[in-house]
Amino acid sequence: MVKLRRILVLLAVTAGLFGAGWWVYANVNLLPTLASTRSVLVDRLFRFLLGTATVVFLLVEGLLVYAVLRFRRKPGDGGEGRPIHGNTPLEIVWTLVPAVIVVVIAVYSFQVLTRSELAADDPLVVEVIGRQFAWEFHYPEAGLSSQELHLPVGQPVRFEITSEDVIHSFWVPNFLAKRDATPGQISTLVMTPNEEGIFPVRCAELCGAGHATMVTQVVVETEAAFQGWIISQTSLPADPIEAGRVLFARYGCSGCHALADAGAKGVVGPALDGLAAPGNAPAFRQGMELGAYVKESILKPSAIVVPGFPDGLMPKDFGQRIPANELAILVGYLEEQQ
Ligand code: CUA
Repeated sequence: MVKLRRILVLLAVTAGLFGAGWWVYANVNLLPTLASTRSVLVDRLFRFLLGTATVVFLLVEGLLVYAVLRFRRKPGDGGEGRPIHGNTPLEIVWTLVPAVIVVVIAVYSFQVLTRSELAADDPLVVEVIGRQFAWEFHYPEAGLSSQELHLPVGQPVRFEITSEDVIHSFWVPNFLAKRDATPGQISTLVMTPNEEGIFPVRCAELCGAGHATMVTQVVVETEAAFQGWIISQTSLPADPIEAGRVLFARYGCSGCHALADAGAKGVVGPALDGLAAPGNAPAFRQGMELGAYVKESILKPSAIVVPGFPDGLMPKDFGQRIPANELAILVGYLEEQQ
């Protein structure tokens, strides 16, 4: 009778433990909205680990609390405890069970890793370039560069990630994907966005003064909307001011500089409003015409460094990246803001 009761209690406790683990697996949802195929796999693995950890935690802590209550010293009991040494079956159990758990987790994790890194047949290639302090996304097929990432939903993507200066880390939390952007090296990351929406893109590696501003967004949209975006990006508005505003955003100026007209609030580099204000600009413009000064500052940022700002933060390759006609529009636009 006593034996039957023990077996029933043991069964009930086991059922309770696994029930709790299952409940955690099925209900606890700690990761952000899942917007890529790989994120679904990783999320399931994460919840499996959390559920397993719950069973182990409850078992260990439960036994601990039980032992503390059940075997505590009774009033008037001043004797020594019974010396116990060794229990072979118990030792086999507490070695085998964790070993099995670790093997299961290892095999499952390896499966998730290989499945989420599986190369697609015909992926959209996006080159991701990190630099202090903005992301650039280059679409080689369309010959287009953008500060904002756009992706068609359901289309496999291969990111080719690198950096032009220090180590950055390309991170899209909603894709559950993160990969270092290392200078002189191209790292790839494959995935398929499977949910339309706008999600943040961040830098996950402390990369300097503007690290926290190295934020942009990914727009996951229908194939038609994506193609429309490509067309809108490869052309410019006819109005030079509007065109300048577009270029200011396209080349990432807003990542580091403030400019009221463009709604930019960067503080890494000098503000671009009021360059012509008396007593302000001439101090560092050294007698140059405003337009010539702006142009020189874009092409050779180290030529004249505004006091109070460090030299060498602004990329020196804008001369190669901005076509001459676009540079003229951008300089004209900045002149117009003064
Ligand atoms: Cu780039 Cu932090």
